[in-house]
Amino acid sequence: MNPTLLAAIPIIYFFFLLLARRKVISQKAALLPSPPRLPFIGNLHQLLGSILHRSLYKLSKKHGPLMLLHLGAVRTLVVSCPKIAEEVIRNNDLLFATRPKSKLMDVLSYNKNDIAFAQYGESWRQMKKLARTHLLSSQRVKSMSFDRAEEVSLLLEKVADAASRGNGVICLTEILNSYVTNVLTKMVLGSWITKEKKTLLSKLSHESSDLLHKVFFEDFFPNLKWLDVLWGSDRKLEDYKNKWDALFEEIIKNHGHESKVVNGKNNTYFMGTLLDLQNDSSLGFVLTNDHIRGLAMDMIIAGIDTTFATLDWCMTELIRNPEVMKKVKDELRKMTHGEDIISEELLGQLSYLKVFIKEVIRLHPPAPLLLPRESLQECQIQGYNIPKQTRLVINAWAFGRDKSYWEAPEQFKPERFFDSTVDYKGKDFYFIPFGVGRRICPGMDFAMVVIEITLANLLHRFDWSLPSGITIKDMDMVEHGGAIASRKQKLELVPIATSCKF
Ligand code: HEM
Repeated sequence: MNPTLLAAIPIIYFFFLLLARRKVISQKAALLPSPPRLPFIGNLHQLLGSILHRSLYKLSKKHGPLMLLHLGAVRTLVVSCPKIAEEVIRNNDLLFATRPKSKLMDVLSYNKNDIAFAQYGESWRQMKKLARTHLLSSQRVKSMSFDRAEEVSLLLEKVADAASRGNGVICLTEILNSYVTNVLTKMVLGSWITKEKKTLLSKLSHESSDLLHKVFFEDFFPNLKWLDVLWGSDRKLEDYKNKWDALFEEIIKNHGHESKVVNGKNNTYFMGTLLDLQNDSSLGFVLTNDHIRGLAMDMIIAGIDTTFATLDWCMTELIRNPEVMKKVKDELRKMTHGEDIISEELLGQLSYLKVFIKEVIRLHPPAPLLLPRESLQECQIQGYNIPKQTRLVINAWAFGRDKSYWEAPEQFKPERFFDSTVDYKGKDFYFIPFGVGRRICPGMDFAMVVIEITLANLLHRFDWSLPSGITIKDMDMVEHGGAIASRKQKLELVPIATSCKF
């Protein structure tokens, strides 16, 4: 026999073995429960235009807690029960530690240089460590309490001022939105940012939440990427990116100026810290301007809408549950001694306020589907073979409603967290509003202190009620359909100043 042919036999044999193995894997994977799908678009028609976490929850009731969807060409695994999430994270956290590549993620990650949207790898590890050590450590969070107190004070003034005009009714949703934008932009970028810039930042942050649910043809139907050009989606994304670029260019320029003239050192806000670190040779890697832009964008996008949504839901649930409002206020009354403003030192003693917030984020996790992940390698879940590059969606919203873990889950009952060690820090898989595993949110301590200090002061300073003629029954509890599930209906309330001399 021809010696070349002879040498080729093992290679051909190996090739066919591989093919056969791939076939078996895909046959097994095809056995995963999956709703019926249409040719080409798969299951997209069952989801488009809907509130995604609710539609997925409904589908999971029919097809099971581990379900495979075909979103165009993208295989997507949806996990709707804590037990399976625990299996995935305990056995395969590393395998699912990456984010899927997508057109939008490339923009949001500043070309994979951020934390939230970057693929798993050295750069992501360095950025996350940097954020944990230099930006969001508990020491750093504590060190910014003065800035938060200043913003809380302004918020209280704004509420009082708005209530003094017209019929006393204020749109608390709008006030909270601009307040959280102020807090976050001050922390990330510094206090020089103008009102117009803040409005633009808030707008860009909201847009990202909507864009995260938008379908780009290139991501789901690679052969149809020309449709993104035709339908103007590419141009819109480019415009979106240009707005961020222009904003960051100005911010970086201004910070250099501010630091030289005012402080002589760039260490007050995140942007200043990052610019200082750029010149720090002990860092061990080169921190580029794209890293800085990516990190700053993360803090703004990941921080503003989530924190705002939680505050808005908290105030909504307080109004809907007057007996809970009374308990929160009673606790505040006991712990305060006539001060005008509650300081952060007191927060440790407000245990009812803390369980109240937990109950709110159990029922209204601001990021109900966490952020999508993707398998880096083939693996097994519940005995099914999951091929490489399968997208993973974890429905944390569904977990908060799971009867196997929560007694009467539909009831609003903060007391369920009393005498319980259940926490949101990622060890209790049935309560993961901040995510879990390697990709867990690094901003949770910061978010929690903002939420607690804001609520404590809003309730200490004012009594709250619905405008006359509106009842609790008129309060719609449906969420926005974007990646961040804030309440759709705006919250209008009447604040009445208390004497504060409890
Ligand atoms: C109530 C407020 C917040 C909630 C509910 C929340 C929730 C989340 C969730 C669910 C994830 C995805 C976790 C996963 O994939 O498993 C996440 C990631 C992230 N969050 Fe938050 N977050 C909040 C506030 C913040 C704040 C204030 C910051 C920063 C200032 C922040 C920064 C980040 C970053 C950088 C990531 C990406 C982590 C990674 O991919 O490794 N978050 N957050």
